Amino acid sequence: MDWGMENRMAQLIQPDGHCFFLPIDHGYFLGPTRCLERPGETIKPLLKYADALFVTRGVLRNAINPVTSKPVILRVSGGTSVIGDDLANEGLTTSVEEVIRLNAAAVGMSIFVGSKHERQTLLNLGRLVDECEDYGIPVMAVTAVGKELAKRDARYLALCSRIAAELGARVVKTYWCEDFEKVINGCPVPIVIAGGPKCETELEAFNFVYDGIQKGAAGINLGRNCWQHEHPVAMMKALHAVIHRKATPKQANEIFMEVKNKSGQK
Ligand code: 5RP
Repeated sequence: MDWGMENRMAQLIQPDGHCFFLPIDHGYFLGPTRCLERPGETIKPLLKYADALFVTRGVLRNAINPVTSKPVILRVSGGTSVIGDDLANEGLTTSVEEVIRLNAAAVGMSIFVGSKHERQTLLNLGRLVDECEDYGIPVMAVTAVGKELAKRDARYLALCSRIAAELGARVVKTYWCEDFEKVINGCPVPIVIAGGPKCETELEAFNFVYDGIQKGAAGINLGRNCWQHEHPVAMMKALHAVIHRKATPKQANEIFMEVKNKSGQK
């Protein structure tokens, strides 16, 4: 691996082999998502627990302090909205020159396997990999399902993750599912787990993250389960412990309760 690529990968995946990415890119198709109306304010107390921020160029420029030392994963696909015809009909929205100008450590884009726009999103991935590899910039592929959340089973996610890796993604972001080891075993690059809609309880989130890490995930890319939570700092600290300090779900829950009770902070 070239020095630049290796250095950027090392900014994302920590020396323990794990990572905690904080995604705030949801507005690119959802608009002002609850708790992300002012993303800069939302993430201020949270960012120190994350290893990288997943964000679009618009929010980065307008809401994130450029003196931050956190690596940025730039969301570079889009072109659809939640009220449009088809969320899968995405294209690339951001040039590689812009990625370099913004000093991003990596880029992320969605693929929609099995959708009407499968081919287009997969070819976009191939093209983005071609362009980014020239500059040593890793591409994270997001195995997106749009509104079809029921699609998230091991067979489907293993298929998507493997295809993403075959096309050159350096990291794959996918969902946790039952039999998650099948997804991990078929994918030759690091996998990070996305959260999806907020869980009913904290423990539910700690359980699936712990299971995913035990089965070989490199880490998480969890948004709504962190910043839409009533106690986001407590969630971040507890999840950080699962990712980087081998905490069990029970220990994570204790950390969560302790932070919540001690400070009552949001
Ligand atoms: C949305 C994304 C998010 O980065 C991803 O879904 C993770 O966020 P959450 O945990 O809220 O699902 O790709 O565009």
